[in-house]
Amino acid sequence: MTQVTGTQLRHAARRTLADRAPWLSVLPAAAWAWWFVVVAPATVALTYAAARFPSTGWERFALLTTAASIAQLTSMRITRRRVFHPAIVFVVTGVLLLSPEQLALMCLLQHFPDWLRQRYSWYVQPFNIANYVLASLAAWTAAHAVGSTLGGSTGTMAVTGVAAASVFVVANRALLAPMLRLARGLSLRATALLDLEDVTLELVLALMAVPLAALWRDGLELALLALAPLTLIHMAQRAMHRLELASGTISAQNEHLEEANRLIVQRSTAALEALSATVDARDTYTAGHSKRVRVYALALSGELALSDAEVEAVGQAALLHDIGKIAVPDSVLLKEGELTAVEWMVMKSHPAEGARIIERLGYLDEVVPAIRHHHERPDGRGYPAGLRGGEIPLVARIIHVADALDSMTTSRVYRAAMSREAAFAEIARARGTDFCSDCVDALMRAAASGALVVEAAARPILRVASL
Ligand SMILES: [Fe+2]
Repeated sequence: MTQVTGTQLRHAARRTLADRAPWLSVLPAAAWAWWFVVVAPATVALTYAAARFPSTGWERFALLTTAASIAQLTSMRITRRRVFHPAIVFVVTGVLLLSPEQLALMCLLQHFPDWLRQRYSWYVQPFNIANYVLASLAAWTAAHAVGSTLGGSTGTMAVTGVAAASVFVVANRALLAPMLRLARGLSLRATALLDLEDVTLELVLALMAVPLAALWRDGLELALLALAPLTLIHMAQRAMHRLELASGTISAQNEHLEEANRLIVQRSTAALEALSATVDARDTYTAGHSKRVRVYALALSGELALSDAEVEAVGQAALLHDIGKIAVPDSVLLKEGELTAVEWMVMKSHPAEGARIIERLGYLDEVVPAIRHHHERPDGRGYPAGLRGGEIPLVARIIHVADALDSMTTSRVYRAAMSREAAFAEIARARGTDFCSDCVDALMRAAASGALVVEAAARPILRVASL
């Protein structure tokens, strides 16, 4: 018999609640709790304010509410987390000039046009209104406490204004932070509510209310001039917004370009590898040669504990090492008899020619030295540069051994294939002279561990030796 656990019961209860009231599921339960903690007292304050609305001072109330509503409509998102709120100027002016009842109703009415535009989800706007009501009432309380303490002394208006502005900004953020945490799981840092630039901008907007309120006492015309800097701030924020958009577009275009570049490199490399395989296929004896060299070279890389980037270079160098043979005519490449001295010179030009082809691409630079020097010998008797020992790039030394193993174990026009054992013995004999000692040792270890397995498709076509 199965038992229903407490967790299952809670989940079932939550499901039933969500089925009955789907609107509840838009926020987690804890976020709804905070929503009610903020919205409930603000609703009480608004009801009280509506019941006791003063019969005087209508003009200021109407002007400030209209200005705040228009400013609220011009709010704009600067970055993903930052919104420019010019309405703050008028709300804090209201804190300094209006009664608490007028102030609370102003915070409600200023959000109406914005609400009608449906900029936010239905449950966001009541929270925003309640936030403004509570934060502005806290600012009003602080301003009047400071004002009554200082009395009519010099600078009272300035200190009162600073208190109102600071308390509004702090209270607004203090009410918003828990909601962002509970609803979206954002940490305080992630909300950007403590971002110095953001706090400074809002504080400056709030402080603009102080001269506006002070000048308004002497007449509205002069007070309006105090709003001139708001235009400048607005223009600067719009410019910043456009820059943000442009920066986003540039980033997106960069990503597209990088993706396109990656595809071009991928396809060009694939085309080159196909070309290299075609070069192999010119001679039926060497068909699949590069693929097998890659298998052996990668096995050696594993034994030599190369880095991922080096292994990648080994793989590409192996597939492309003989691409320079594209410049060697069939009369030389496929000649059945011995090559003349001139023909040998043409044949020996293929590493440098291959390096030149790959060098021109510009994105496989790490592979170029390996291609150029894959016929060098530690004793200095190789070509094209006659490098010795450690002067030869490691990737080139690896390719040289892998190349030799495949050449010895496949039939050529001029000789039959050797057995692997015979090839290993031959390579071991030339350890340190023809072949790099470390690479030969790695080859022997790879052979012992069974790592030199070539897939069926890349296996050489073995021919019976003809005498
Ligand atoms: Fe070669």
